[in-house]
Amino acid sequence: MPHFNEKRYESMVYNRCGRWGVKLPAISLGAWQTYGGYVSDEVSKKCLFQAFDLGITHFDFANNYGEPNGNAELVCGRIIREMPRDELLISTKAGFYMWPGPYGEWLSRKYLLSSLDASLKRLGLDYVDIFYAHRPDPNTPTDEVMDALDQAVRSGKALYVGLSNHSPEDIRAKNAHAVAYHTARPIISQSAYSMLDRHVEDGVLQACAECGMGVIAFVPLAQGLLTNKYLEKSAPADSRLAVSTDVCAKRIEARFDRIDQLRKLNEVARRRGQTLAQMAIVWLLRRPEVTSVLIGASRPEQIQENVEALRKRSFTAEELDEIESILA
Ligand SMILES: NC(=O)c1ccc[n+]([C@@H]2O[C@H](COP(=O)([O-])OP(=O)(O)OC[C@H]3O[C@@H](n4cnc5c(N)ncnc54)[C@H](OP(=O)(O)O)[C@@H]3O)[C@@H](O)[C@H]2O)c1
Repeated sequence: MPHFNEKRYESMVYNRCGRWGVKLPAISLGAWQTYGGYVSDEVSKKCLFQAFDLGITHFDFANNYGEPNGNAELVCGRIIREMPRDELLISTKAGFYMWPGPYGEWLSRKYLLSSLDASLKRLGLDYVDIFYAHRPDPNTPTDEVMDALDQAVRSGKALYVGLSNHSPEDIRAKNAHAVAYHTARPIISQSAYSMLDRHVEDGVLQACAECGMGVIAFVPLAQGLLTNKYLEKSAPADSRLAVSTDVCAKRIEARFDRIDQLRKLNEVARRRGQTLAQMAIVWLLRRPEVTSVLIGASRPEQIQENVEALRKRSFTAEELDEIESILA
């Protein structure tokens, strides 16, 4: 096993996931488009190792991450096997399109459980720590979904279950079902949340708090927009917008009309002695409901910079007001 930084637990902050015993690092690392995608396998390994050396214990996947679908789990599975499994929280998900035919997407028991088996095989693991329903499914009843998630836990293939992209009503209904039938309760919601996408403030955060669930905020940097790299309205040659073939990457360019706003935020960050990325991360952690911020990174230096954000987590009332007025 490689030699990891012995001081890795000294500077990271670990937050309890809602009412549950398990803690997540304040910053987690996901593989969505990057690892097994537009980032080389060698750099992917450097990123995961760098993250772990900085105390990031939580790595997030889904069945369909990477290019082709599943490649993120394959590439990162090989890397994770060189790391101490008991010190890691590994999550994966099923819900979006993965294979053709009627059993390759959404949330039927058939799809969820066969997808989990396939993820474990790709990752080379006996179990994942968190298994998510990746999106709500209007056509599969709550009892089927929650029973399938419960079966994942009872079979030992997942330790906890979570919900992703669910509305406040979905979260309450699925949690209430698990409470009523004494099945595995969802411990966390994985939801999009950034300075540029605040929809969770309209109910998801409150629903999670009521249900005793944690929240992990995904795409916290709006795929890189909330950093200093697009402030000139152009895409550096090594940026996601320039190199990723995923259609979602094009959303970055579609939001270039917000560059003036981003420049103003960058100025606030500069006055705080932070980069825009750092301020965008700790701004999410100002909410007590947020357990972890789920970043992506194409190189180890970005992870270092982003984790250093935790050195200055507090905001003055004036700073918060100024940010609100810029975002308004
Ligand atoms: N549940 C869901 O439905 C769902 C959906 C999407 C994502 N997610 C999760 O969220 C994770 C994060 O998504 P994301 O990668 O879009 O998140 P993000 O943190 O918003 O964007 C990451 C990108 O921002 C840039 N970046 C990061 N730190 C930087 C820094 N300090 N300076 C300059 N650029 C920086 C890098 O782009 P460059 O590549 O341009 O360097 C990096 O790849 C995913 O991996 C996945 O685990 C979940």
